Amino acid sequence: MSDKSGISVKVVPTKPIDGQKPGTSGLRKKVTVFQSEHYLENFVQSTFDALPAESLSGSTLVVSGDGRYLTKPSVATIVRMAAANGVGKVWVGRGGLMSTPAVSAVIRNRHGGEAYGGFILTASHNPGGPKEDFGIKYNCENGGPAPEKLTNQIYQNTTKISEYYIADESLKVDIDKLGRSTFLVQHKDSGKFGEFTVEVIDEVEDYLKLLRKIYDFNALSALLRRPDFKFAFDGMHGVAGPYAKRIFVQELGAPESSCLNCDPKEDFGGGHPDPNLTYAHHLVDTMGLGEHSSAAAEVPAFGAACDGDADRNMILGARFFVTPSDSVAIIAANAKEAVPYFHSGLKGVARSMPTSAALDRVAEAKGIKCYEVPTGWKFFGNLMDDGRCSLCGEESFGTGSDHVREKDGLWAVLAWLSILAYRNGAKKENLGDNGPLVTVEEIVKEHWAKYGRNFYTRYDYENVDSAKADKVISTLKAKIGEITQVRNFVIDKSDEFSYTDPVDGSVSANQGIRFLFSDGSRVIFRLSGTGSSGATIRMYVEQYVAPDAGPEKLHADAAKALEPLVNVALTLSKMRELTGREKPTVIT
Ligand code: G6P
Ligand code: ZN
Repeated sequence: MSDKSGISVKVVPTKPIDGQKPGTSGLRKKVTVFQSEHYLENFVQSTFDALPAESLSGSTLVVSGDGRYLTKPSVATIVRMAAANGVGKVWVGRGGLMSTPAVSAVIRNRHGGEAYGGFILTASHNPGGPKEDFGIKYNCENGGPAPEKLTNQIYQNTTKISEYYIADESLKVDIDKLGRSTFLVQHKDSGKFGEFTVEVIDEVEDYLKLLRKIYDFNALSALLRRPDFKFAFDGMHGVAGPYAKRIFVQELGAPESSCLNCDPKEDFGGGHPDPNLTYAHHLVDTMGLGEHSSAAAEVPAFGAACDGDADRNMILGARFFVTPSDSVAIIAANAKEAVPYFHSGLKGVARSMPTSAALDRVAEAKGIKCYEVPTGWKFFGNLMDDGRCSLCGEESFGTGSDHVREKDGLWAVLAWLSILAYRNGAKKENLGDNGPLVTVEEIVKEHWAKYGRNFYTRYDYENVDSAKADKVISTLKAKIGEITQVRNFVIDKSDEFSYTDPVDGSVSANQGIRFLFSDGSRVIFRLSGTGSSGATIRMYVEQYVAPDAGPEKLHADAAKALEPLVNVALTLSKMRELTGREKPTVIT
């Protein structure tokens, strides 16, 4: 099939490859797996085949990723396959880079929502490089991850695939340069030639436009220019870097030195790009929370980090950690006053089941509904599409709102900066005439004084032998409804969490085992759905302390305060005996 006037399309015979079932966050495997013959092509063709042909024909798609190893060659392959499958136009972020929330924003908003969907090339917070992880997921017209119906269809197609379509190698674009290239590409069915356009777009522009509608950039800029307000952002060598430099430095006037690790690297500088107290050690040290940090050193007033694809976030004050569960609750408590986008109030809020109930208390005080959903962002998307939820968050360092259909790391950082700006009266007119800075720690402690504190910790037991992990779960299941007290903790209720989606009525069962205590404390167990090898057991422990307990109790060290309940959780699960693990691998 070749013609001098255009680009021909090849029909490549292939065979099904095992294990191409996308999880909630797409298909994630080792780079070496993605490098095996036809691996990426089979998955991409199976995705195209799962979409209605009449919608795909002539459509616009976004193709970009977090910049990890294999991103560029994968973008090139997907572009050629899109051309062969009748797509009309592809938008690629410069360098193949675009954060996950920015892809969502581009799909929803660019040219009035012209795009039909997009491929995001990312394995999120997993390490990158030739021996590490790669991933691909498809997002739909609403900017959110493909629903299960579609991912199941994609998977079915991967088990039956016999050929894929790809335009020949002459369809080449320099994706490091902004601009538009148009080609004449042969149609795989009709053999006729049609126009196909690749546009390399600024990866930040559309997303920035959206953020400008949400936040008061003047107030943010006034805060960041305050001489007593030092700020540190850790891009963890992921895709957040270019966004941070553009937004914090160019738009808001923060010094360039505020941006740490903000040059994207294919291997994330050898790090694990997950923003938590263990992996974001550069930021943790900078903020005076490191093991060897000196108590006397001057540290920034505010610190934040994002993961590889910039949808997760961690928020820190000077020598102070804000738990993700507290973070979403505090954003909800201040949203109406501090964030223009929320000036008319919140429609409702939502959290995942293992996330602490701090958000519930805010919702109750504001008279709005708080939804409790299973772990996984897709459950929020349904509520948002139905206009029930404006703001949501998870204990796993995800926070977001209905401005896109993904969690959004930089959005969360700007939310916190907006709260700080609001509390510090940072308006242009009083620049240089401010009282002492209201700190992150003060804002959090005021919140606890008003709503009480949900002490919270999560223990992860990674890479546990699957049979042993199953034994832990079955041991816990056997105790549901059978045990009423462990030491002095009285169990009110125990169950396996099941969720009925209020929008489409779908039921998601077996979403974690819960023990709910009479004082509002909770102990929860579930197996991770995102691990790549072995099983990961997550144990979530939460204890509520009411405001009238007084500052000494409210400000106690979380690890110490939770020790008795952690021991209850370990006893209930027989964790040490059944896994042979004395300690968890990660504590957050
Ligand atoms: C991804 C999802 C989140 C989820 C997290 C943890 O980041 O987008 O919604 O909370 O994984 O999942 P896991 O199953 O590993 O606890
Ligand atoms: Zn991520």
